[in-house]
Amino acid sequence: MIINNFISFAKKKVEAYKNYYESWKYERKLFSSIKCGNKKYKEYLRCQLDRTLSKKQRDDAYNRVKYLLSKFVEKVNHPKDAKILSVGCRNMYEIQAFHDMGFKNVTGIDLFSENKSILVMDMQNMTFEDNTFDVIFSCHSLEHTHDYKKAISEFVRVAKDGSVLVIEVPVNYETGGSDLWDFESLENLKKIFQPNTGRVLFEEYLRNDAKNNFDGTDIIRIIFKIEKEDVVWIK
Ligand SMILES: C[S@@+](CC[C@H](N)C(=O)[O-])C[C@H]1O[C@@H](n2cnc3c(N)ncnc32)[C@H](O)[C@@H]1O
Repeated sequence: MIINNFISFAKKKVEAYKNYYESWKYERKLFSSIKCGNKKYKEYLRCQLDRTLSKKQRDDAYNRVKYLLSKFVEKVNHPKDAKILSVGCRNMYEIQAFHDMGFKNVTGIDLFSENKSILVMDMQNMTFEDNTFDVIFSCHSLEHTHDYKKAISEFVRVAKDGSVLVIEVPVNYETGGSDLWDFESLENLKKIFQPNTGRVLFEEYLRNDAKNNFDGTDIIRIIFKIEKEDVVWIK
């Protein structure tokens, strides 16, 4: 009995140290890859990283990603060699969902990476050239940014003129923890992308109990073209 208790205690300790070491490793990589500026911003990045690491093995987002992707395929019918950026993909489940649909040219960005398809990069300060991607896919990531105007400016900068933006975010929910923004409505989301909001190809607002809403909150989904005339850059 005493031996069993000791073994169980020792196992828990080892597990706790392993988790601690892993977080430390990812944090070092994050802060060496990303210009984090002031202390407040570093705290923001650390909070986002801790939160996502606690979920890193889970595939519970696979259904919502699959659904959003199926809407993209249905409404846009993009060539399979399209260059796609998946913002805040977390793990390989999201990238795999693209591969399963035949899209192989997919780059993910997040605050940690376990695979070379995912780059450690801040959505507010990307290192890609201007006009790089045909599709920008952001499923439940834009609400996590520190300054959404900067992130949006980066989405537009790295997107090609006439490319497609695919977004899903929770709305009318209680912000807090790592969920920082509530964009409230489709109209509002379109407005904050102005003057780059082009033709809308698909949009829906789903209440939390609606079919095809895989989350516990109301959500909005929108797919629209990005138009790059009259771009105002935020630096
Ligand atoms: C709620 S998860 C979404 C994961 C996946 N896209 C999905 O739909 O389930 C949000 C992801 O955004 C990432 N993230 C938060 N802030 C970020 C930033 N500034 N730059 C890049 N990724 C960020 C988090 O690390 C996390 O993996």
